[in-house]
Amino acid sequence: MRRLSIGLGSWLGLVGCADGTSNPDDAGGRDASGSTAPTEESTSTTGGVGDGVSTGGGEGGSTFVAPATSMGDASTGDVEIVGSEASTAEAQTSSGDVITVPASTGVAEEDESSSGATSTDLEASTGIGTESTSGEASDGVSSGEASDGVSSEDTGSVDGPSARARAEALLAELTLAEKIGQMTLVAIETIGGDGAVRVVSSRCLGGVLGGGDARQNPNTALGWADHHDRWQQEALSSCARIPLLYGVDAVHGNNKVEGAVIFPHNIGLGATRNPALVERVANVTAVELAATGVRWTFSPAVSVPRDEHWGRTYEGFSEDTALTADLSEAAVVGLQGRVPGALDRVAACAKHYLGDGGTNGGVDRGETVLDEATLRAIHLPPFERAIEAGVLTVMASFNTWNGVGSHEHRYLLTDVLKGELGFQGIVTSDWGAIDALPGGTYADRVRRAIDAGIDMVMVPQFYDRFIDALTGLVERGDVSMARIDDAVTRILTVKFAMGLFDAPYARRDLLPEIGSAAHREVARQAVRESMVLLKNEGALPLSDDAGRIAVVGTKAAEIGSQCGGWTLSWQGSAGDITPGTTILEGIEARTGANTVVQYSPDGRDIVGADVAVVVVGENPYAEWLGDRTDLSWSAIVPLADREAATRAVDSGVPVVLVLISGRPLVLTEPLAGWNALLAAWLPGTEGSGVVDVLFGDHPPSGRLPHSWPAATADIPVNAGEAGPDPLFPLGFGLTYP
Ligand code: BGC
Ligand code: BGC
Repeated sequence: MRRLSIGLGSWLGLVGCADGTSNPDDAGGRDASGSTAPTEESTSTTGGVGDGVSTGGGEGGSTFVAPATSMGDASTGDVEIVGSEASTAEAQTSSGDVITVPASTGVAEEDESSSGATSTDLEASTGIGTESTSGEASDGVSSGEASDGVSSEDTGSVDGPSARARAEALLAELTLAEKIGQMTLVAIETIGGDGAVRVVSSRCLGGVLGGGDARQNPNTALGWADHHDRWQQEALSSCARIPLLYGVDAVHGNNKVEGAVIFPHNIGLGATRNPALVERVANVTAVELAATGVRWTFSPAVSVPRDEHWGRTYEGFSEDTALTADLSEAAVVGLQGRVPGALDRVAACAKHYLGDGGTNGGVDRGETVLDEATLRAIHLPPFERAIEAGVLTVMASFNTWNGVGSHEHRYLLTDVLKGELGFQGIVTSDWGAIDALPGGTYADRVRRAIDAGIDMVMVPQFYDRFIDALTGLVERGDVSMARIDDAVTRILTVKFAMGLFDAPYARRDLLPEIGSAAHREVARQAVRESMVLLKNEGALPLSDDAGRIAVVGTKAAEIGSQCGGWTLSWQGSAGDITPGTTILEGIEARTGANTVVQYSPDGRDIVGADVAVVVVGENPYAEWLGDRTDLSWSAIVPLADREAATRAVDSGVPVVLVLISGRPLVLTEPLAGWNALLAAWLPGTEGSGVVDVLFGDHPPSGRLPHSWPAATADIPVNAGEAGPDPLFPLGFGLTYP
């Protein structure tokens, strides 16, 4: 391993850095003189943060020092105050743990000459004006304009000369081990123990990810920022000092972090049919990620789910290709900005390429059997649009296409994606997906995948095996150096284009925005626009003086089911998992003195109520474990909730059924007993958005993103395909007169 020569570093620095430093050596992580790096101090401060490995727990007594570079573009310039504000904000959102960042751990020791740039200096050196560091950007609800102030000359878009030229120059300095390290993506939760972070320096890793069950201690925004920055510091102080690309599945908000706003899953956003809103949602997600330092999200899923048996149906926007393509573009622009490089934006990842939503029977990681014209017509357009929007990364899919795994499909990955569509970013593999390829030795599988066009490999755990295998393949000439160089150039280009070298650390000035009222308001709008009214015999809207409203069903009063999978944990869980407003709380907040709200989880004793709002649906699930062969009411909705709904119907009270689900369920039979049916999808933390529609403060405007099947045996039912008629067609949705 070698370090960059000063000469090269200075040359790279000709394109200015946002923190006022001039080359990657200065970008953080350096040693004593003029250090811009975060340092770890041994103190006994409450809230010490571990290496973020849930199994390992916290490393008590270690407090993380806010890195200067993450503050470099804070408009206040007063990093010490920012640090303490962040800790204050954290104390407000965390349940119990009080996190304190002592004044001495701010960045008061910051050396002005190395990174104490004023915001004026920053604008001059990067072209990133205040619009990307305050105002619109900081409220997180701009529609991406913030990044428009960044020209590709300044930070370099993927196909712009600057980022690519810098990447090529850096590549020339790297050893084979450093190159292969760049291609290696390790999951933090698979490597426990106190020394976990050292995997970054010992293997010269290019990226790490926090998988579905990765947590911090505390699992707050500040906990994540501290964890991220420690891992980033490890990268910037070792090997070629190349910043890590840190990824998480932020698929509906920064959903790993307690207190972050959780948006509706994509199926609900599909119902809004509102690209501008989807862009704002993604924009807020980017801000809430950047605050924690994480600058890469494995989203959006641009899947076109064609069979609702699939447990990932809710991760896609719609069964409709054109709608999916429109919203995929909006999500990419919201996450990245129109030109990547703004420091409150993140790299998006269009996934899963190709045909994940088209497997037989909706089986996750299954077999997609389609002729090429159909594959292209249904599943390719959202990727085309994401690429046109500048998406920086694409994830290969676990599924096969006509018998060949996507991860080793050279035609799809190299000829179509990189050739025909001109994709110049990173193709990453999915979780352990190379291991899952059929046949051959492990090394054979690595060779097939890399040759096919995979650039970065999510190992996620057995990194030594991968590094050894790929090193051997290159040394024996079984994988060409040209292929390695292409992959690493792509990885470095993305890092330069994102401004990662310029500002590698958490944007702690944005921490107070996590879960802010402004962000929750965007989510509430997304929730209300996603409501689809499927039946209404006069029971809705609820009246202001309804008298007595009975609220029935356990899902009326817990956030976890409202959020679904990929929320705080991989599969999600029921219960009070993060701050938010339940539907019951939303109803209570909405009703006035003349209305009594009676909560009856099991539906008993509601006789005499004026109306019953029955909130039932699916328990949380995510990929793989969420596949179901039977989508009928009796097979899916838990018995207790079904019984509660039946009691409500039997009580003679008019019933408004609010369905919490990640896909259409077969409701043909019980539907007859309900006076109204509102599909609420998986709305996330802002239950008041459901209530806005229940009371008619906002008339329902959502329209079905999927054809709604009448019978389980009918599935798959898709618009434009032969087969039984749906109960409600794609695009269906009632409103109030
Ligand atoms: C999923 C991906 C996800 C990755 C990392 C995989 O199992 O298929 O969508 O991004 O894990 O969590
Ligand atoms: C991880 C997820 C990943 C899944 C794949 C889980 O343990 O947390 O991120 O997608 O495994 O199997």
